[in-house]
Amino acid sequence: MAHRVAIIGGDGIGPEVTTEALKVVRAAGVALDTTDYDLGGRRYLSTGEVLPDAVLEELRGYDAILLGAVGTPDVPPGVLERGLLLKMRFSLDLYVNLRPFKSGPNRHNDGVDFLVVRENTEGTYAGEGGFLRQGTPHEVATQGSVNTRLGVERCIRYAFDLARGRDKKHLTLVHKTNVLTFAADLWQRAFDEVAAEYSDVGTAYNHVDAACIYMVEDPGRYEVIVTDNLFGDILTDLGGAISGGIGRAASGNLNPARTGPSLFEPVHGSAPDIAGTGKADPRAAVISAAMMCDFLGETDASTRILNAVDKTDDVEGTTSQIGDAIAASC
Ligand code: NAI
Ligand code: MG
Repeated sequence: MAHRVAIIGGDGIGPEVTTEALKVVRAAGVALDTTDYDLGGRRYLSTGEVLPDAVLEELRGYDAILLGAVGTPDVPPGVLERGLLLKMRFSLDLYVNLRPFKSGPNRHNDGVDFLVVRENTEGTYAGEGGFLRQGTPHEVATQGSVNTRLGVERCIRYAFDLARGRDKKHLTLVHKTNVLTFAADLWQRAFDEVAAEYSDVGTAYNHVDAACIYMVEDPGRYEVIVTDNLFGDILTDLGGAISGGIGRAASGNLNPARTGPSLFEPVHGSAPDIAGTGKADPRAAVISAAMMCDFLGETDASTRILNAVDKTDDVEGTTSQIGDAIAASC
């Protein structure tokens, strides 16, 4: 049976890299029944719509969603992030943002091989806050961090399960317990209590600022990291930078409870500076699609795709030439 997948190519290089990802998935023998959705900056600028409720309801019916990137230079900041990306994460309860980092065999900095589990529905991204006396010299702006026991614990449990299946069975909590004494205290207590149920998994704790140093100087110490929404956003850009660049950074926005579809997307944006030039590296989208295959139970195909990405690590060329090379190696 073909997996039903909603495709949101989006803007700029989004549709270019998504096309290559689908090419590779099909070459790996996975049957997909895809439907294209026209969402993103272009749609917003022409119709004023970001994510109509009827479209959101339709998306709930798919097995998975594959997204390229959204954003055009003339859309004000926040419109697509809040109205499309965060709305899908929150409404579809995509509570884990899973981001794997692994250096390709021909890249420097070998020894990078870890996954970041980022809480994806709470923290400072939940939108708690507001303005008082906006635009005056007495303006006040607050932005709270929402941390629920349920939200934190389910993310931590996912991370422990993931670590249990890895070689070293090791999980590091990253937070800022020395300063964020309320939020971090909840995280630390939930982490310690869940850890007691996973005696086979080794644990560590790092402050987020120290983690930035270790990730560059000693990335081998990490196997799985679990952290909150904002720290995870920042740390994973660093993870991309030390493991072969933004062109390889992939992600899955997961609903591990499987009450609806999960969403897979490269970490990078729509790169308007190179859109239409054939310079976009499709690898991040291809690796995201491999994560989608894995989540859909196509584990052999997923492994073949990841191995093909490794085998073709030194291939240079246009977006479609790289996609062709990966597809041919599957
Ligand atoms: P960006 O990730 O689009 O680009 C940053 C730099 O990396 C650019 O120089 C670009 O050419 C390069 N780059 C990105 N992906 C690449 C790839 N696959 N291959 C080769 N080079 C690549 O980030 P930027 O410039 O901050 O944002 C551009 C637009 O994308 C904005 O509208 C932004 O809001 C949006 N955006 C959307 C995201 C999403 O849909 N999830 C995530 C990040 C940004
Ligand atoms: Mg980010």
